[in-house]
Amino acid sequence: MKHLSNISELLTLDGAYNKDGRNLLPEDISLIENASLIYDENEIIWIGPSQDVPPEYKSLETLDLSGHCLTPEIVDSHTHLVFAGNRSAEYSMRLNGADYQEIAKSGGGILSTSKATKEASDSELLESAKERIEKIYSYGVGSVEIKSGYALNYEDEMRCSKIIKELKDHFSPRVNIYNTFLAAHAVPKDFDSSTSYLTKVCIPLMQDLAKDNIIDIVDIFHETGYFTLEDTKLLFDEATKLKLKLKIHADEFGDNGGATIASEFDALSADHLLCTGNDGIKSLANSKTVATLLPGTGWFLGKPQAKGRLMQDEGCRVALASDFNPGSCHFDNLLQIASMAAPMYPLNMTEMWAAITLNASSSLGANDQGAIVKGLAPRFSVFKCSKVSDITYSWGKNLCDRSFNL
Ligand code: NIG
Ligand code: FE
Repeated sequence: MKHLSNISELLTLDGAYNKDGRNLLPEDISLIENASLIYDENEIIWIGPSQDVPPEYKSLETLDLSGHCLTPEIVDSHTHLVFAGNRSAEYSMRLNGADYQEIAKSGGGILSTSKATKEASDSELLESAKERIEKIYSYGVGSVEIKSGYALNYEDEMRCSKIIKELKDHFSPRVNIYNTFLAAHAVPKDFDSSTSYLTKVCIPLMQDLAKDNIIDIVDIFHETGYFTLEDTKLLFDEATKLKLKLKIHADEFGDNGGATIASEFDALSADHLLCTGNDGIKSLANSKTVATLLPGTGWFLGKPQAKGRLMQDEGCRVALASDFNPGSCHFDNLLQIASMAAPMYPLNMTEMWAAITLNASSSLGANDQGAIVKGLAPRFSVFKCSKVSDITYSWGKNLCDRSFNL
């Protein structure tokens, strides 16, 4: 059992946890000053002001966290960090007037990363991903979702999913990694339709990977020019038979009914949602599916942002994630994204913190973490500052302190 004492400010998100991460008000934030936290390796045991620690815990050795804040673990629930190559030329082309979808049609985009990824060795992919994860961990993120999807053939997609599994084993339990299967990310040139690639490659591969317990979640890029509604339903039906959880890249470039289909299938999350209209927002609000916003992608591509405020007001559970990838968001710092996104949508403090902890955890099916509440898993992030508000107030400054090895 461990006792952390004199925590300058402890963010529990107890109020947000009790409201299932929805309809969050500023007063739901749940902060305790000069706090103590007692936990063992499985669960949180006691939380409160240091002066109120019950006598039975007084003999425990304490770790003094004065000058530090503690929050529920920061979770990046959407990344594509296993890839090779560089697409800065496309970034320049976009700044000079080209469009993401036009670049993709002319052979750039996901297909160009796919070429570089196929050419890279296992160890190149593994080592570059490890470096990226260490950097993300250094910001205070302790759980990371990683998608496959930059190979686009049976053999190489299998290789990428296995590399993510290797990363998961390597980093556990310091970083919890979630392995998401996204072979349905783009249609390779040698297939004449998305459905033919889906049925000949993606579904058989998903079945093989599921048999060996390699993947946790299944995702699809449901978008004009990528995968259709029928493809999505077919993949989701097959994934459900395998008891895999579902996610979707939804309504990124158009309002294609992605949010609605996610709610109908009880998906863990619908992600992007830049173009989701009122019907899609309502269906998310009436479901358990988390609305995962990726504002970094809107900024990187210069697209209008999702209706984040309306989603909150309608009662959606909203998460924020980085979408770190080589093409549409080459940026990995979720805390900085949260700092910049909150005044934009806008989000109140409770909504912003729940979006990168509680709701992000739910969007990975990790309902045993995301708040500092008795009985939940002891997963936290520690920052060197005296107020929780300092963490996102200091734009671009990394206040995370990993020296305590909690
Ligand atoms: O989440 N939208 C699809 N996939 C990625 C982009 C992939 C890429 O351009 O490399 C995304 O934005
Ligand atoms: Fe993505």
